[in-house]
Amino acid sequence: MDVDKIESALRADIAAAGDPEALDAVRVRYLGRKGRVTAMLRAISDAPAEDRPRLGAESNRIKILVEELLAARRAELVPQDENAFYAAPIDGTLPATDGSSGRRHVLVQTFNEMRGIFHGMGYRLASGPEVELEYYNFQSLNFPEEHPSRDLQDTFYLTDDILLRTHTSPVQVRYMEEHTPPLKIIAPGRVYRNEAIDQSHAAEFHQIEGLYVDTDVSMADLKGDIALFIQQLFGSKTQIRFKPHFFPFTEPSVDVDMTCFGCAGSGCSICGQTGWIEIMGAGMVHPNVFRAVGYDPDQYTGFAFGIGVDRVAMIRHGIDDIRLFLANDVRFLRQF
Ligand code: PHE
Repeated sequence: MDVDKIESALRADIAAAGDPEALDAVRVRYLGRKGRVTAMLRAISDAPAEDRPRLGAESNRIKILVEELLAARRAELVPQDENAFYAAPIDGTLPATDGSSGRRHVLVQTFNEMRGIFHGMGYRLASGPEVELEYYNFQSLNFPEEHPSRDLQDTFYLTDDILLRTHTSPVQVRYMEEHTPPLKIIAPGRVYRNEAIDQSHAAEFHQIEGLYVDTDVSMADLKGDIALFIQQLFGSKTQIRFKPHFFPFTEPSVDVDMTCFGCAGSGCSICGQTGWIEIMGAGMVHPNVFRAVGYDPDQYTGFAFGIGVDRVAMIRHGIDDIRLFLANDVRFLRQF
């Protein structure tokens, strides 16, 4: 088999093909079931073993060449006439395509809105891993060894000291390890808890962590920033209140309530007739957390807060089941 002969015959045949039909006949002559290239490829298996690699490479080269030459000649024979394309008559009676497109997930929309407000207040974005060390998720955050949330019942452990983060607070520690104050960040992300799942509990949900550290940061600063944020998100008439609470990594700690988005405080089904909705946890950064990252607690103070993105989206849109967010039902998602 003489490869060069096949190649020159091929070039001549293709050059001689004067219209698309003739070109197609050339294609069949070389690549068809009984074509010359096909025969070459078939012959390889009968050839002596030491010749096969060379024959294989040559046949393949010819095969690719045939395809390239055919495509080039086809482009010559059928000029792409843009004017002809645009001059084609349009049938105005055909049904229109529905023009629907994708959209951002309602949680992303909610997060973007929250992020925009924090951005305007001077918070920068930070992030950390969802697969986290026990050290960052618990130990550095001053959780005592026997704290119940360290339990398997509440936390997904991957190994003894690696877990799925149960909150975004580990990002506080990671960020402080890498930076010196003043710092003001939000850290959004997915978190995981080993929950009994129902309409208000999911095993995966989303938080935004906030952290502000400087000299002389006070609880008044915390209250001011939270009020400003909540009023921008839910309306300027929204009131907030602090209730004493406990978190190992803040002292003092608070639960933040806001007047109900649905009834403005008079009582409705959203707020369970109380007029108030629990919206986030917050507090002043515990000195032990500062010690864990090598900050001097006598020099710096700071506040932190954690707010659920799913919860905010539920309140704003009147969504009554947290499981809908990750169910990927377009009938639900399309509404936002
Ligand atoms: N990490 C806490 C939680 O998930 C929320 C929080 C963050 C509370 C920061 C106080 C300060 O429940």
